[in-house]
Amino acid sequence: MKRNITFFLLCISVMILSGFSNKTDFKMIKPHFQKDSIKVKVDSLLNLMTLEEKVGQMNQYNGFWDVTGPSPEGGDAEKKYEDLRKGRVGSMLTVRGADQVRAVQKIVVEESRLGIPLIIGFDVIHGYKTLSPIPLAEAASWDLEAIEKSASVAAAEAAASGINWTFAPMVDISRDPRWGRVMEGAGEDPFLGSAIAKARVRGFQGEDLSAINTIAATAKHFAAYGFAEGGKEYNKADIGTVTLHNIVLPSFKAAEEAGVKTFMNGFNELNGIPVTGNEFLLRDILKQKWDFNGFVISDWASIGEMVTHGYARDNAQAAEIAVKAGVDMDMESSSYVDELVELVKAGEVEEALVDDAVRRILRVKFELGLFDDPYKYCDAERESVVIGSEENQKAVLDMAKKSIVLLKNENNLLPLKKEGQKIAIIGPLADDDNSVLGSWRIASEDHSGISVLEGMKQYTGNEIVYEKGADLLKKDPTFINELEFNFNDKTGFEKAISAAKNSDVVILVLGEHGFQSGEGRSRTNLDLPGVQQELMEKVFGVNKNVVLVLNNGRPLILNWADENIPAIVEAWHLGTQTGNAVAQVLYGDYNPSGKLPMTFPRSVGQIPIYYNHKNTGRPVDPQPGANMVFWSHYSDEENSPLYPFGHGLSYTSFNYSNIKVENSFAVNEEVKVSVELSNTGDYDGKEVVQLYIRDLFAKVVRPVKELKGFQLVELKKGESKTVNFSLTEKELGYYDQNGDYLVEPGDFEIFVGGDSDATLKSAFKLTK
Ligand code: NOJ
Repeated sequence: MKRNITFFLLCISVMILSGFSNKTDFKMIKPHFQKDSIKVKVDSLLNLMTLEEKVGQMNQYNGFWDVTGPSPEGGDAEKKYEDLRKGRVGSMLTVRGADQVRAVQKIVVEESRLGIPLIIGFDVIHGYKTLSPIPLAEAASWDLEAIEKSASVAAAEAAASGINWTFAPMVDISRDPRWGRVMEGAGEDPFLGSAIAKARVRGFQGEDLSAINTIAATAKHFAAYGFAEGGKEYNKADIGTVTLHNIVLPSFKAAEEAGVKTFMNGFNELNGIPVTGNEFLLRDILKQKWDFNGFVISDWASIGEMVTHGYARDNAQAAEIAVKAGVDMDMESSSYVDELVELVKAGEVEEALVDDAVRRILRVKFELGLFDDPYKYCDAERESVVIGSEENQKAVLDMAKKSIVLLKNENNLLPLKKEGQKIAIIGPLADDDNSVLGSWRIASEDHSGISVLEGMKQYTGNEIVYEKGADLLKKDPTFINELEFNFNDKTGFEKAISAAKNSDVVILVLGEHGFQSGEGRSRTNLDLPGVQQELMEKVFGVNKNVVLVLNNGRPLILNWADENIPAIVEAWHLGTQTGNAVAQVLYGDYNPSGKLPMTFPRSVGQIPIYYNHKNTGRPVDPQPGANMVFWSHYSDEENSPLYPFGHGLSYTSFNYSNIKVENSFAVNEEVKVSVELSNTGDYDGKEVVQLYIRDLFAKVVRPVKELKGFQLVELKKGESKTVNFSLTEKELGYYDQNGDYLVEPGDFEIFVGGDSDATLKSAFKLTK
C-alpha cells in the first residue's frame, strides 16, 4: 500500500512538474505537445533519480518463471529480486503471462523507492501463442498488408499476456543460407526487406503505442549480423562501406522511419569492432545521422562478450565502451549494473551519457502508458479471451497460405483431384505437429500445430495412407537445444515404398525440423538432412506422381528433386495452421502466389549467391561452348541459381507485355513505367509483379539488377490489367563509400517480370 501511494504521489508530482494537473488534460492536448509533455515528465523524473537508480533503468534481467519463490533456473534469483526492490532493474525479458508479469511489476512499483515500472520484453517473432509462419516464409508472400496484420496479431496476444516490447523484427539482410537465422529475416534484398521491416513495425506498434493491443518493436541486429563469415553463427562480418550502406543499413533505416522504438545490436564484430561497442554505427549513424530517439538494447550478454572478443580488458571496460558507443540498456550481462556507477564516480564515463540513455528508456515507458497504469498489460481476463482466438487462427491461416511458394508444377500435377484418388502421404515431417511451429514458438503449446497429414485429412474425397518412412530425429524436441539427429534410420522405408507403389499420387513431406534453423543453427551442407534424399529417390522409383512438400527454414539444395520430382511446394514452417494451409493449396482451394525472398543455390560452393550481384569485368564466356577459362565462373558449376530470387509459380499462367517508359526524365521527375499483365491460364490468380532497374554506369559500380518496385495483382482467368509503377530519386540513387546518397544522371535499364530473371525490358535516361 505504502508503495502504491509513493507511486501515485510520484505520478502527481510528475504531472504537476509537467504543467498538467491530471491525465485527462494530458490526453486532450495535441500530439506534438503530448510529445513535449513526455519530455518534461521524463526530465522531471530524471531529476528525482539517484545515479544508482538511473543505472538501474539501463539494466535488463532475464526472468524466472516462479516469481513468488526462488528461481528454478540458476542461483541468482535472490540477487535479482533484491535488485528489483532496489530499483536496479529497468526491464525484464522472458517473463510472460498476465499474472507473472503483474508479480514482478508489483515488486518494482510497490517496493522500489520510485516505483518506475518495468518494460517487459520477449522474442515475439512469428506469433505469441497462435503462430504465424516463420518470418522468411511471411516474406515470401510479398504481401505487406498480411505481414502487418500478422505482426499485429502477435502484438495483441503478447500484450494480453503482460508483454509490452518485442525483440522483432529482425531486419538483417543475408545472402547466406548456411546461416540458420535467415529464417528470422526477410531474405536477401534491401528493398523488399525495407518494405517488410516497415510493415512489421507498423503491425507491432500500431498507430498508438499506448493502446492495450500494441507493443514496442525492435530493429535487430544492428548491424551486419547476417553477413557472418562463412554463414557461421556469431562470426565476424568484414564488409566494405558500399555494401554496408546499400545492402545492410537500408532495412534498419526503414524501421527507424516507421518509428521503431528500439534497436538491438548484434553479437558480431564489423570490420574489427564489435557492433556492441561500435560508435560509428550507434552514435554517428543511428543516433546522429538518423536522429533516432528511442533506445538501444544490447544482445544477450553482448556487452560482456566484448571481453571474449578481445576488445575490452574486463567487464568494466566493456561497460564503458558500450555506453560511450550508445548502448542504452544491457541485456543480461550485468556489466552496467555492476560497473557503471563506479565508472561515473571515477570520471571515466560522463553522467550525461547515462542521463541520455535513461531519458530514452523512460520516454518509451511513458509512450507505452506504463506510468498511467503499470499493470495495463496484465489483465488475466483479457488474456484468456484474446489469446488463440478464432479470429487470430484465421489470420495466421491466411498468412500461411500466402507464404507458400510453388517451385515447380510439371504437367499440372497440382492441384490434386478431390475425389477417387489413393494418396500416400510419406515423410518424417508429414505427421509432425510440433516441427511446423518453427523456431521461435514462445507461448505456444508443444504439438499445437496442424500437421500436413491432419490438414490433408480434412478433405475426405480421397483415400489417404500415411507412412513415416524414416525418423529425422532420435526424440521429439520441444526446445532448440534438444536436437538429436537420426541420420541412418531406414526401418520405415519398405512400408513407405509399398504405400507409394499402391497409390495414385504421393505427397512427400521432407525438409528440416523446425529447430534445425534459427539461432545457433548454421549448416555446411544444405541437402535434405539424413536419409530423406534416399527415401525420396526410392519412392520416386516406384511412383512418378510425387508432390514434394518442403518444410524448411532456409534455402536448400534441391537439384535432384528439381530434375525429377514433377511438383515441388515450398511450405517452410508455417506455424499453427500449417496443415490446413498446405492442404488448401494442394487441393487448389487457394492458388499459390508466393515468391522466393532468397535465392536457392545449386550448390553450397555458390554461396554467397544473390540476384543483385555485380557484372564484373568478365561476365560472359567470350566463346560460348569453347570451354574458355578467363571469365567469371566456376569450372564445375553453372553461375545461375537453381531458383532465382522472386521465383514462384501459380496454378494459372501470366504473360507480361507492352512495357512502356518515356525516353528521358530529369532527376527530380517521377519515372512512370507501365506494363500489361494477362492471366493466360485456367485459374483466377495473383501475381507479384516485380520491377528491377540497372544503373548502367556510375561512380560506384551498380548491381546487374535491383528490385525497386513490386505489386500484388489479382486477375481473373482471361483478364488483363495495366500495372503502373513510379520511380523517384528514392529508388534511383545509391550510397557511395562515405554513405552519401547520390542520384546520378545517366542511362538506366528497367525490367519487369515475375522473378529476378525478368527479361521484358526498356530503358530511359536521367538528365540533370
Ligand atoms: C539472442 C538473440 O540474438 C536475440 O535476437 C534475442 O532477442 C535475444 N537472444 C533474447 O532472447
